[in-house]
Amino acid sequence: MRTSERFGALPAYPLAGMKEVRRRIEAEGVDVIDLGTGDAQLDPPPAVVERLREVAGDMRYSRYGFQSGLPELREAIARWMQIRFGVHVDPVTEILPLIGSKEGIAHLPFALVGPGDVGIVPDPGYQAYLGGVTLAGGEPHLVRLERENDFLVPLDRIPGAVTKRTRILYLNYPNNPTTATAPDDYYLAAIDFCARNGAVLVHDHAYSEIGFAGYRPRSVLELDGARDVAIEFHSFSKTYNMTGWRLGWAVGNPQLIAALNKVKTFVDTGGYLGIQAAGVAALESWREWVPRNVATFQRRRDAAVRAFQRAGFAAECPKATMYLWIPVPEGERSEAFAQRALERAGVIVLPGASLGKGGEGYFRIALTVPEARLEEAAGRLGELA
Ligand SMILES: Cc1ncc(COP(=O)(O)O)c(C=O)c1O
Repeated sequence: MRTSERFGALPAYPLAGMKEVRRRIEAEGVDVIDLGTGDAQLDPPPAVVERLREVAGDMRYSRYGFQSGLPELREAIARWMQIRFGVHVDPVTEILPLIGSKEGIAHLPFALVGPGDVGIVPDPGYQAYLGGVTLAGGEPHLVRLERENDFLVPLDRIPGAVTKRTRILYLNYPNNPTTATAPDDYYLAAIDFCARNGAVLVHDHAYSEIGFAGYRPRSVLELDGARDVAIEFHSFSKTYNMTGWRLGWAVGNPQLIAALNKVKTFVDTGGYLGIQAAGVAALESWREWVPRNVATFQRRRDAAVRAFQRAGFAAECPKATMYLWIPVPEGERSEAFAQRALERAGVIVLPGASLGKGGEGYFRIALTVPEARLEEAAGRLGELA
């Protein structure tokens, strides 16, 4: 098959063989613990499921949603942005529903970059940034996230020749996979960087609601100057355990929202309106339901940090997200460790290198299972360390 240059520039998925190994060892009777994908074994809010049931037979929800989708959803999102962040946005011009935030994150570069234009991509990072910029024909400029820089993209160290050509800066805090969070002055510096270089700040806020011990991440739109340069992506996936429902939204600068809207007009016709109606129910359950869900993740985090430390790993306690980002045993490559973890311990972890070369030296576990299972996984992996 002859493929395009852009397609050819996409990195291979490094662990293609793992599924096969899992099938084989499960068939042999191994009790596999899957801490790989950030997809918790937890239910969505009951009101969400109930609302979907109510509208499933209503043919008004079976029609095309188109880009703007259900007006009630955009209004509910605008209300929530106001309550949660004190940010006032127009539900028509400043909000766009998405079929999961990933599709918006990956489609936006089609409006912003072409040959010679740069998208700054954190490494390690969520692969939709790299994929979107590459498929749109832009040039991804990967920047290492390092512990010494608190896993922030060091904006002052990006060469001038790159900043001049930068059209997109992707940031994601609370961060997947490093779990890092960003202070206000960092966001202000990023807004200034974008304003000076004519770039767009894309803030991926998939973990905005999973903060622990009172930590509440802010929206970049709360900060001065953000309205001129920023678009923020939100997701129902982790906040409401709705990964498979595929629902998210973009919010921010109206020109950016209009541009993404236009791109999407050519590639999709909107998500199912019944799921958008269920999204309204999710947002309405936020105040009461989300704190309990976060408490579940917090209990899991505490148990996992203790268990992994006991097992000999240098696990740190994250302030946010549903992950631990842990150094692999001395001298081992992350993929080799992940392979051993599955074959010898029956535990699936995500090797850091699968999210970019900058993730080498680490593995990620997701808090997908209850405390006892996390403890069991840590114990088994401790025997490998
Ligand atoms: C950093 C980050 N952004 C975006 C997403 C995608 O979320 P969605 O399910 O809304 O596409 C994820 C999901 O894992 C993520 O980790």
